[in-house]
Amino acid sequence: MSSAFASLWAEIAPIGLTDNGYLRFALTEPERVLRDWFRNQADRRDMTVTEDGNGNLFAWRGEPWADGVVLTGSHFDSVPHGGGYDGPLGIVSAFLAVDRLPAGRNVAVAAFCEEEGGRFGVPCLGSRLLTGAIDPSHAARLCDRDGVSFEEALGYRPAGPRRLRFKAAVELHIEQGRALDVPVGVASAIWPHGRWRFDFRGDADHAGTTRMADRRDPMLTYAYMVLAANKEARLAGAHATIGRVAVEPNATNAIPSLVRGWLDARAADESTLETLVEAIVKRATDRAGRDGIAVSVEPESVTAEVAFDTALASRVSELLGDAPILPTGAGHDAGVLSAHVPTAMLFVRNPTGVSHSPAEHATDDDCEAGVEALATVLLELT
Ligand code: GLV
Ligand code: MN
Ligand code: MN
Repeated sequence: MSSAFASLWAEIAPIGLTDNGYLRFALTEPERVLRDWFRNQADRRDMTVTEDGNGNLFAWRGEPWADGVVLTGSHFDSVPHGGGYDGPLGIVSAFLAVDRLPAGRNVAVAAFCEEEGGRFGVPCLGSRLLTGAIDPSHAARLCDRDGVSFEEALGYRPAGPRRLRFKAAVELHIEQGRALDVPVGVASAIWPHGRWRFDFRGDADHAGTTRMADRRDPMLTYAYMVLAANKEARLAGAHATIGRVAVEPNATNAIPSLVRGWLDARAADESTLETLVEAIVKRATDRAGRDGIAVSVEPESVTAEVAFDTALASRVSELLGDAPILPTGAGHDAGVLSAHVPTAMLFVRNPTGVSHSPAEHATDDDCEAGVEALATVLLELT
């Protein structure tokens, strides 16, 4: 007989699954199917569902937006061709943990919108809007790769912040590194991180007829920037990734006019991150000058370091039999909430540490242990 976790998990596992991981972009069809599933789960538990005007769904036990509710949940959206656990594990586990709570314990389960920034470019967009960390008119105008704005996808103009009266928040998430070797851990901090868009502009021309010496090819400057970012990050003990690139005109037989690359940079502290990004920008700019290429750099989102409430993290760890407390380089809605609500995070072991990949995985037994841990914590906090 399958466990409570395995049977609920099986309900959502096929949604958005392709032959190469998941496509669950925010507010697209698979994510809307997951939202319907969320409403249905709430109905089954007599929980009231509200949308907060920013695309975030909440299922409430007790009166919506009342004082002193404990918030849990996570997000449904995935990176392109990602795994199934990053996000949805926290929502499925939340409903199962609610099932274990006695009546009268007021909790809310959240499904935050566009956590990955995979569609509109800014991660944790829903929680940023809810907490006032992003201007709603700026968020409304963010566009996906087909030119559809966030406002159009949402169907209304985002409302922006609400006064949050949650007593505490706890997000359960699959661990995304190799640092957790027991089923459940507790978060201490999130590395500061951000996204910077680099535009390299040169001259489009014929690949066959333009002499090598006559070219202004932005691909070369871009390639140099990628190598420089990797080297600078290694020297700083930080992380730098260029995982997304766009080329115009994107033709095999044309020298590009534009190469646009997105730098994702993260470090254990803010001054290391700042120094790292400055070094990468300087090396790209110097090289662009030598190559005759115009370069511009635009920060698309920058997230400060998050230190979770230390007393709460210790209390949660103790409740869970001295669960390990560890930092992460991954961003989370819990990090955004933590500036407004006492917040904790639980991590469920990921045997390989692989994430943002179809190979992401956690065992059913560890996920069950995660549900148990979340229920224990919610019971205590409510
Ligand atoms: C979210 O998963 C991020 O850290 O990019
Ligand atoms: Mn993620
Ligand atoms: Mn996530």
